[in-house]
Amino acid sequence: MALERTLSIIKPDAVAKNVVGQILSRFEGAGLKVVATKMAQLSRAEAEKFYGVHAQRPFFKDLVDFMVSGPVVVSVLEGEGAIAKNRDLMGATDPKKAEKGTIRADFADSIDANAVHGSDAVETAKVEIAFFFPEANIYSR
Ligand code: PPS
Repeated sequence: MALERTLSIIKPDAVAKNVVGQILSRFEGAGLKVVATKMAQLSRAEAEKFYGVHAQRPFFKDLVDFMVSGPVVVSVLEGEGAIAKNRDLMGATDPKKAEKGTIRADFADSIDANAVHGSDAVETAKVEIAFFFPEANIYSR
């Protein structure tokens, strides 16, 4: 398996529920290293740009409204197969369909407020990481 980086966002619902530490612990427990992290309040322009690929989808406005509704915790996770590993830890987009023991099954309330985002492929991860972190602010070990 290749050493990869992926972008994780702990969304406003999970930050409001005070489960940031529990979610980061799951990443660490699965062997992923937090090599960059920050709390941020996204502007509407930033959220619209980050999710630009979904601009034509019917849920786009709801998604952006939700992502600017409160602060988020954005991190770069590094490890063997980090992209798939993070998506396994997150579970399905819709928490009702997420496997037991996944982050979304345990902490998310709905498909809108679904606790976490994770990059879905190597190329997307590169773009998403660069959106939030200059290389100089990523501390690979
Ligand atoms: S796709 O087709 O696989 O790209 O779509 P998907 O990964 O399922 O969803 C893309 C992002 O949109 C969010 N989403 C929604 N938000 C609000 N309402 C509805 N109905 C909805 N459906 C999907 C979903 O959580 C994804 O956001 P991220 O942050 O990437 O998880």
